[in-house]
Amino acid sequence: MGALGNDSAQSLRAALTRHLVTEGTIRDERLAAAFLAVPRHVFVPRTPLRIAYADDVVLMKRNQAGEAISSVSQPSIIALMLEQAAVRPGDRVLEIGSGGYNAALLRELTGPDGSVTTLDIDPEVTERARATLEAAGYDDVAVLRTDGEFGAPDGAPYDRIVVTVTAWDIAPAWVAQLRPHGRIVVPLRARGQTRSIAFDRVGDHLESRSSTLCGFVSMQGVGANYERLHPIEDEVVFVTYDEDQEDEPHPPDGVLAQPRLQVWSGATVGREEPLLDLHLWLASTLPGYCVLSGSEWSGAPAVATADSLAYLTSRPTRQRKVVQLGCNGFGPAAAELTARLTDQVRRWHALHRHGPGPAFQVYLSREERPAGFRIARRHSYIAVTWPE
Ligand SMILES: C[S@@+](CC[C@H](N)C(=O)[O-])C[C@H]1O[C@@H](n2cnc3c(N)ncnc32)[C@H](O)[C@@H]1O
Repeated sequence: MGALGNDSAQSLRAALTRHLVTEGTIRDERLAAAFLAVPRHVFVPRTPLRIAYADDVVLMKRNQAGEAISSVSQPSIIALMLEQAAVRPGDRVLEIGSGGYNAALLRELTGPDGSVTTLDIDPEVTERARATLEAAGYDDVAVLRTDGEFGAPDGAPYDRIVVTVTAWDIAPAWVAQLRPHGRIVVPLRARGQTRSIAFDRVGDHLESRSSTLCGFVSMQGVGANYERLHPIEDEVVFVTYDEDQEDEPHPPDGVLAQPRLQVWSGATVGREEPLLDLHLWLASTLPGYCVLSGSEWSGAPAVATADSLAYLTSRPTRQRKVVQLGCNGFGPAAAELTARLTDQVRRWHALHRHGPGPAFQVYLSREERPAGFRIARRHSYIAVTWPE
């Protein structure tokens, strides 16, 4: 690229960094300096500069079904996770899921006394990451091709592990390779929502320090895990369940065609208010919890029995920016399900709407019986508690 191209890359990079600082996503000055230093366009070859420096994901690869399987992540999501990771000069860092760009940012943050290892399951990705890291002057980042499930034992222990692909579980290798009191930041998916959670290692378990909504491509390989879709209307509306919910009763096909019972909770929220915590509260407190997908109510939390279903909805109020929460129920148990759902909506509204949100703990031993709502995974228990 000629001098003119470099100049405009630099000013676009400065504008992107300013934007992330102004909106409060970047708070740490060292992180701002890293964003200013790393030439993002080098990591997304053949992409116009304007797109390389937009606050947007750059898709690099789809699978045969057309799903995105590899990308260079959105700058604001990267920034959120790096704020959560709080990487210190001198840290040894492992990144799971490569793209080159985030590894370069991590290399800036770790400084001359630290180190960065990045790994990816896909050889195309590792080749690109290696070539682009070298082109951008970060040739001391170790790039490995391996399944992230097993981490990178040769470089362990790590002070920080940053997972940049959606995980359903915490692999035992990640905890084993994390230094005591070290931190892992991971986009963890459970009950239809993905949160980037920063966990500190406390003894042999993990305790959350922060969590925030995010979205990533799905983990492939040994740790791949899929939500189960159960059709309830002509294969266009589904309810989704996690792997550990296989024994939950599934509502019948056609349940939504039964007469609707609508019940309002009296609880109001902002029209644009994120309800991520409410959804997890409902998942934590209601047996039969599932999530609607593939329809106009996609993502709506629901509760089901073998013959009935109720899901969360909202309606406008006289105040333009405020909606009231309620639910629609269908089937013989509609009255009971809508009552349970609205009751929990009211409890969340009264106790947790303005609270700190849920805390998470991860135990690898099934012998542990942590308090709170427990989600059983292949290797771990994720426990969710609700400080008031
Ligand atoms: C969102 S991209 C990573 C973005 C990257 N960190 C960046 O700098 O923007 C997710 C990557 O995870 C990889 N991946 C998926 N499953 C994996 C696994 N089991 N082990 C390692 N990498 C995996 C994909 O190949 C993909 O390249």
